[in-house]
Amino acid sequence: MAKILVTGGMGFIGSHTVVELVNSGYEPVIVDDLSNSDPKILDQLAKIIGYKPTFYKLDLCDENGVYQLAEKEPDITGIIHFAASKAVGESVQHPLKYYRNNFFSLLNVLNAYKGKPVNFVFSSSCTVYGQPDVLPVTEDAPVKPAESPYGNTKQIAEEMLVDMQKAGSRYKVIALRYFNPVGAHSSALIGELPIGIPQNLVPFITQTAIGKREKITVFGDDYNTPDGSCIRDYIHVVDLAKAHVAALRLMENGSFTGYDVFNLGTGKGSTVLEVIRAFENSTGEKLNYVIGPRREGDIEKVWGDVTKSKNVLKWQTELDLDTMMQSAWEWEKYIAANPLN
Ligand code: UD1
Repeated sequence: MAKILVTGGMGFIGSHTVVELVNSGYEPVIVDDLSNSDPKILDQLAKIIGYKPTFYKLDLCDENGVYQLAEKEPDITGIIHFAASKAVGESVQHPLKYYRNNFFSLLNVLNAYKGKPVNFVFSSSCTVYGQPDVLPVTEDAPVKPAESPYGNTKQIAEEMLVDMQKAGSRYKVIALRYFNPVGAHSSALIGELPIGIPQNLVPFITQTAIGKREKITVFGDDYNTPDGSCIRDYIHVVDLAKAHVAALRLMENGSFTGYDVFNLGTGKGSTVLEVIRAFENSTGEKLNYVIGPRREGDIEKVWGDVTKSKNVLKWQTELDLDTMMQSAWEWEKYIAANPLN
């Protein structure tokens, strides 16, 4: 079984990817510092996949620790690198923390395994496009000046990986630009675990519905969109996780060389109000929401062109917005009844 190192494998997208790796016959090796995840996720994963996956608690900024990890796990054939800080607002307040965490961890992992023929998947974001001039946005759209230090770390990391490939690295690299990952595993045993007040739309919706938050504010209804609220391309986290397996498969194919980048979205945009309506209709729950002012830094509308992902990655989404909402709701109810901590 090919061993895949999953950095940040205890997190939201990482944990779902661990499940899909096992479903596809890979052996995941998780490394995570648990800064934004819970150790009990390992037990939750075991309930889904039938065994406890190998796990190392390690801060990837610890260079010696990463070299020791590479000595203990020399026969890694692929790395999926999720480990990174990801809160946009926090990155504006603490930029150096973001540059340190996101670059040191990436550099240490790349250096520790360099010289080996490893397939490397990098978690990037549609944030690199800013507000695109043309929608749906394709992978060759220009990268716009980053809106936040978080976004900048994604842009610079992509450039670093391109430069590394130009210099003749033995890595093969695929960067995946995520649109808005939401939802949870159909078992409701893993899902998103925001620390404190959620910044993202769907966890805020589910926490409001369960009574943890009094109401949700729709950030602006005066945008140039059909109902005035912002448009995003929401993608089910299980579909997203499967794309990482597709990326590994593509790189395992002898004809793939160097570097490539793919959009991971559904190709369809939904407004905030449409998401709220989908939540209410698919779960039967009434949501207490109000219209508020715009949130600073928000992009009006973005959704992805996923033609290249379909044709080259041989991957496409299967799960719709209702399924995203229902699964996120099942997870919220599960975690309310079975708190992890
Ligand atoms: C942001 C980042 C993205 C990052 C992602 C994950 C930008 C442009 N995008 O996505 O790079 O990967 O977070 O952290 O920085 N909304 C409300 N009320 C709420 C919360 C959100 O109306 O309480 C709206 C927002 O205005 C937006 C949509 O819901 O239109 C989605 O917001 P959110 O889930 O925060 O994701 P993004 O801002 O799209």
